[in-house]
Amino acid sequence: MTAQNFTRRQFLTSSCMALSGTAAGLGSRKLLGKPIPKPKEPPNIDPGYIGPQFFDKHEEQALLQVLESRSPFRYWGPGKPEKVLRFEENFTKYMHTRFALGVTSGTAALDCAVAGLGIGPGDEVIVPAYTWWSDYTCVVHAGALPVFADIDRSLNLDPADFKRKITPRTKAVIAVHLLGGPCDMDPIMETARKNSVAVLEDCAQCVGGSYHGKTLGSIGDVGIYSFQVNKMITSGEGGALVTNDPIIYERSARFHDMGTIRRVFLDRSGSSRVQTFAGENFRMSEFTGAVLGAQLSKLDSMLAQLSGNAQAIYDGIKTLPGIRLRYRPDPDGDIGYGVYFETKDKAARNLCIRRLRQRKVPASTLTGSVLLPVHESIINKRTRHPGWPSFNSPEGKKIKYGPDTCRQTLDIFDRFVQVRVGAKYTQHINDYIIDAIRRVYNSLM
Ligand SMILES: Cc1ncc(COP(=O)(O)O)c(C=O)c1O
Repeated sequence: MTAQNFTRRQFLTSSCMALSGTAAGLGSRKLLGKPIPKPKEPPNIDPGYIGPQFFDKHEEQALLQVLESRSPFRYWGPGKPEKVLRFEENFTKYMHTRFALGVTSGTAALDCAVAGLGIGPGDEVIVPAYTWWSDYTCVVHAGALPVFADIDRSLNLDPADFKRKITPRTKAVIAVHLLGGPCDMDPIMETARKNSVAVLEDCAQCVGGSYHGKTLGSIGDVGIYSFQVNKMITSGEGGALVTNDPIIYERSARFHDMGTIRRVFLDRSGSSRVQTFAGENFRMSEFTGAVLGAQLSKLDSMLAQLSGNAQAIYDGIKTLPGIRLRYRPDPDGDIGYGVYFETKDKAARNLCIRRLRQRKVPASTLTGSVLLPVHESIINKRTRHPGWPSFNSPEGKKIKYGPDTCRQTLDIFDRFVQVRVGAKYTQHINDYIIDAIRRVYNSLM
C-alpha cells in the first residue's frame, strides 16, 4: 500500500491536498485559486450509540419481569429465570449455529473461546495488528504467543499476510470483523483448513453482519460477540459465544462457570466429554439477558436502517473521480457502522477530516481499536508476572513487535477517513453528508 498504487491523477490530487495545509493555510477558504463553496447549514448529525436508540417498552417490560420475579440469577430464584436461556436459544437461531453461550462481555467471550479451543503455552495465535486489546489479551492470558498479521484495504486481516505468518506452532487465527465489515473469509478459511489452524471469529464490531449469506460467527470454529454500549445491540456490557462443536461448547461453558458444567449445557450438547478444570465466573445475569432478548428481536430492523444509510452514502460518493473506498468483500454483509475512504497520506487524511468536521460531519481516523504492535506495553512484552509463559518460550523470547512488524497496517491506518453512520439518519442527513464529502473531496482536487 504505497503511493505507487495511486494513479497519476490521484497523486496530483493528494499533493494539492497536502499543499493546501501549508501554502494556502488550513483556515483559508481558497485552495490554489479555487474557492471552496460555503457549507450548507448542517443538520444535527449525531450517530449516537445504536442500541440504546431502540430501547422501548420491550426492554422495559423484560426488565420489570426480572425485578418482579426477584430472580436476577440465571440458574435459580423464587421465580422461573429464563431470560438468558431464551436469549441463548434465540441467538443460536439468529446466528445459525448449534450452540450459544451468554457471558459478561466480549472480552470474557474471547477468553472462553480460547479456552474452548484448548489454546495454551507453546501455541501461537495470529491476530490482526489493528484490533481491540482483548484479541491480544485473550492469547496472553492463555499463556500462548500472539503473532501479528497486517490488515489490508478491507480494514481487516490481510489473508496473504495471515498465510505468511503461519508456523508449525500456529494453533488459531482470530478473524476480527472490524468496523462493521466482514473479513474476506473464503481465503482465510481456505488457508486455515489447509494448515489445520482453528478460526475464531471476533464479531464484536459486526453483530448481525454476514459474508456471502452466512452469518458472521458461524463460519469459523467459534465466534464471539460484544454487547457493550458501542456495539450493534447492547445491554451496556455483555457478550456471547457461538459454535457448532460440542467439545468447544462444553469447554467454553465450563470456563465461564468455574470449570464446572450445568445441566442446561449438557442437555444441549448431549453428554459430557470434558473433565472439570480451573475456570472463571463470566455468567450472564437475567437483567442482561432480558435487555438482550428485546434488542435481538429488533436487530433485523436496526440493521436495515443502519446499512441502508451507509449504502446510500457510499452510492452518493462512489462516482467521485478516483475515490478509493474501503474494500468490502461482501457489501451486503456490511452492517454500515461507517463509510470509509482513502487519502494519499496522513496529511491529506487530517486535512480531509478537518474540513468534514468544519461541516459538522462525524469524520475521524479509524476508531474503536488499537495499533497493537506499536504500543509500548506490547513492544516491551509486559505481562502480569515476569515469568509468564507467553514470552518465556524460545519463540516468545525471539519475537519482536514494533512498527517494522506492521508497516502495511500503519500505512493504511494513516490514510483512511471514517465517517460514522447513524441508524436514525434521515435522507436529508444522508444527502447532507454526501454533499459535504463531495465538496471536500472536490476542494482537494
Ligand atoms: C473487536 C473487539 N473485540 C472484542 C471486544 C471486547 O468486547 P467487550 O468490550 O464487551 O469486552 C471489543 C470491544 O470493543 C472489540 O471491539
